[in-house]
Amino acid sequence: MRIAPFKLERYFAKYEFKTKYLLSPSDCESFSLRELLVMADAEALALWDQLRLGYTESPGHPTLRARVARQYQTITPDAVVIAAPEEAILIALHTLLKPGDQVVVLFPAYQSLYEIPRAIGCDVTQWQFDLGANGWRLDLDRLEDLLTDRTRLLVLNFPHNPTGYLPSRDELDAIIQLARKRDIYIFGDEMYRGLEYEPARRLPALCDLYEKGISLSGLSKAYGLPGLRLGWLATQESALIERWLGFKDYTTICNSAPSEILGMIALQSRETIVARNFSIIQENLRVADQFFAAHANRFAWLRPHAGSIAFPQWMAGTPVEQFCRDVLEQKQVMIVPGSIFEFPGNHFRLGLGRRNFAQALEHVGDYLRAR
Ligand SMILES: Cc1ncc(COP(=O)(O)O)c(C=O)c1O
Repeated sequence: MRIAPFKLERYFAKYEFKTKYLLSPSDCESFSLRELLVMADAEALALWDQLRLGYTESPGHPTLRARVARQYQTITPDAVVIAAPEEAILIALHTLLKPGDQVVVLFPAYQSLYEIPRAIGCDVTQWQFDLGANGWRLDLDRLEDLLTDRTRLLVLNFPHNPTGYLPSRDELDAIIQLARKRDIYIFGDEMYRGLEYEPARRLPALCDLYEKGISLSGLSKAYGLPGLRLGWLATQESALIERWLGFKDYTTICNSAPSEILGMIALQSRETIVARNFSIIQENLRVADQFFAAHANRFAWLRPHAGSIAFPQWMAGTPVEQFCRDVLEQKQVMIVPGSIFEFPGNHFRLGLGRRNFAQALEHVGDYLRAR
């Protein structure tokens, strides 16, 4: 498979471990191994202490699959396959799609969600967000026009990376109806689920709402555990599971044994972990509100509804790439420009999940005052 470079990941590869401040990461502040082990109950600690580092069961540890399944209404442990999140995208898309299929992808998007279909030889159509007076907006009439008899898959991502958009339940139901009418699969990237600012607005997972829905989620974002490389796919369509496992034999075969046990502990301590990350995001949102109010002449804030990222707009009249380059060189602050998402309009991604967010933003403030 020939595939184009992943612009966002290449950008992070260049700067992530060399730059003092990161203002664009999508994950939440990570936990230490010690912090996680302190949350373990006696059963998990015994599993950890007695762990042997052999191969593991390809679909995932049965207890881990059972704990994942508990997060859904219609999903049994057999309907869950554990894999690294990025690997899970490859597995799900590669087994579903063939050359010539049309794939409609909500855009902007995490690149693998459209680049893998492109590399397979699919005809990829973007369903673009609109930007209105009240922020990001979805045009469902446009989606209806984009879906055709050749459409095999609709790719969604709510809460959305990078806008932080979360649709209403009515909007999501209407989208599912459009897909159902044409018997189209929906791949729901739900990596940021659980980080809704108003818990009442949390949407059911697509694998529960739709018989042809596939949900992707994992521990990298809301849980702050990306180093475990642990995620999962879930679906009601049982025929997909065997195909996923068949393809996984060519990616990792099975998951990391220590990560699986640590993942079980994380899922068991879900409320504590997500509450800690949610409070970091809330505090950072407060800081961001103040920052953008103080610099209203230079930015449109575009406050997110959910998740750990936002996609504000640089309005100062120069290219956003220049702004990002300047703060990197002058203040050691890394910011991802919207062009990395192939999205116009001078946007940039803001990561809200890290503890040193205010400090990093202060350096951007210093840059702006000196400008
Ligand atoms: C929307 C989305 N999906 C999937 C992933 C992949 O997650 P991971 O990096 O843990 O493989 C990311 C990571 O940034 C993401 O933002």
